[in-house]
Amino acid sequence: MSIAVALDGPAGAGKSSIAKRAAKALGYIYVDTGALYRTIGLAASRRNIEPVASAALDEMLASIRVDLTFNDKEEQIVLLDGEDVSGIIRTPEASMMASKISAVPSVRAYLLDLQRNMAKTHHVIMDGRDIGTVVLPDAQVKIFLTATPEARAERRYKELVEKGMDVNFEDVLQDVITRDYQDTHRDIAPLKQAEDSIVVDTTKLDFEQSVEKIISVIKENR
Ligand code: DC
Repeated sequence: MSIAVALDGPAGAGKSSIAKRAAKALGYIYVDTGALYRTIGLAASRRNIEPVASAALDEMLASIRVDLTFNDKEEQIVLLDGEDVSGIIRTPEASMMASKISAVPSVRAYLLDLQRNMAKTHHVIMDGRDIGTVVLPDAQVKIFLTATPEARAERRYKELVEKGMDVNFEDVLQDVITRDYQDTHRDIAPLKQAEDSIVVDTTKLDFEQSVEKIISVIKENR
């Protein structure tokens, strides 16, 4: 039987980079479910469809094809009607569109089977917001990865400064706090910790320590 690790948590806790490294070390596949929401957002914006519930959006879902696959480096590739969109879904516009469209119930329902099928055929670490609660409620290991808003804002601030951007720490922190509020208060699939999840707080851990911690939690609980 394949092993599933559900990894949920707020934006900026380091989920994707930590999970990618842990998956590699364990020989599991890392599944980034945010990329699927980003791909649906891209499909809608290409058709000028608003990211809200509508007949037009449902018709679009019935007519597109989204596939998840992996390249020879085990990196996830998302295909929209056969086109590799893995790169173009990473823009700030795509993030905004994904955030809005992920609140539409028919979009979440559409992506459910795709996510579940990945876990049937591979050992996975699946990264998202509702993996332990909705997508894989029977996952052998459920981890809720978090850090204080200040620690997450500090990391994001450093990343932006390294990219040469002129940013103010207080603005970045406010952004993190606002996003947390939106993610935890939306009506459908709000970010919340599964009751049977193990909380890993990375506030006082650096990247390598966080990876080690995740690997040891998975080994102890799988
Ligand atoms: O993790 P990310 O930033 O790539 O996710 C993009 C958006 O999709 C984000 O606003 C949250 C949403 N999302 C979700 O609602 N459920 C998931 N399982 C994964 C992402």
